[in-house]
Amino acid sequence: MPEMTSGAAGTGKPTRPLGRLRLGVNIDHVATIRNARGGGHPDPLRAARVAEAAGADGITAHLREDRRHITDADIEALVSTISLPLNFEMAATDEMQAIALRHRPHAVCIVPEKREERTTEGGLEVAADENRLAHFIAPLREAGCRVSIFIAADRRQIEAAARIGAPVIELHTGAYCDAHADGRLAERDAELARLRDMAAYAHSLGLEVHAGHGLTYDTVSPVAAFPEVMELNIGHFLVGEAIFSGLDSAIRRMREVMDRARREAFGEGAA
Ligand code: PXP
Repeated sequence: MPEMTSGAAGTGKPTRPLGRLRLGVNIDHVATIRNARGGGHPDPLRAARVAEAAGADGITAHLREDRRHITDADIEALVSTISLPLNFEMAATDEMQAIALRHRPHAVCIVPEKREERTTEGGLEVAADENRLAHFIAPLREAGCRVSIFIAADRRQIEAAARIGAPVIELHTGAYCDAHADGRLAERDAELARLRDMAAYAHSLGLEVHAGHGLTYDTVSPVAAFPEVMELNIGHFLVGEAIFSGLDSAIRRMREVMDRARREAFGEGAA
C-alpha cells in the first residue's frame, strides 16, 4: 500500500510544527517474544540500546498488571541503564503508582487496562473518573514525572484531561489505523479528521499532544504532519518489521517517513 501523504496542506490553517517530532519506541513486544520461551532472549534492554543508536528519542514500556511482556526487572534495568528518557506506561492502580514513584521515570503515561484485552483497546475514561485521577496523578507530577493520559480523540476526554491537571495527552490512533488496514477508507479519513481537530483543540487548551497505537509506515505520515503533535509512540509494527529488516533499520525508516511527512507539510527544516 502506498504511504499516504497529507497533513496541514489543504486545511487552510496557517501551520508550523510546534517543535521537533519525537519518536518513542515501545519495546513491549520484544519482551513478548522473550517470554514466549522464557529465558533472556531477545533482551528488551538490548532493543532499547539499538533504538537509541537508530535515533529514537525515548523508550516506552508498559508494565501490565499481569506482567505479560515487560517485567519489574525490565523496568529496573531500563531505569538504571538507558540514557534515553523512559516513558513508563501504567494503569491507574496503587501498585503501579508505587512502582512509578520508586523509579521516577522521565514520563508516565496513564492507560486503561483490561486483563482480557490483547492490547490497549481504547482510551482512558477520564471524564467519568476525574476526581480519582486528579488525585492519582498529583504525586506523580510532584515527583517530577511528565504525566500523559492516553485517550480517544474525544472533546469530553480532552477537557477532562486538562481539568485534572495533566500536562500531556496521547491520542489513541488505533481506530484510524484499523480502518486503514481494513480498507474502510471513508472511516479512516473521518478518524484522521477527528484526530487532527482534536489535536488542535487539545493544544488550544494548553495540552502537549502525543499520539500512538497501531502506527505503521503506511499510516504514520498524516499524523506526523499534525503541527501540534510532539511525540509518536510506536511499538508493535517496529518489532514485527524488525523480523524482516532488523530493528535498527525499521526505526531509521520510520524516522525518515515521519521526517518526510513533516517536511512535505511544512517545508524543509520542519522535521
Ligand atoms: N501508546 C500507548 C499509550 C500504548 O498503550 C501503546 C501500545 O502499548 C502504544 C502507544 C504503541 O502501540 P503499538 O504497539 O500498536 O505501536
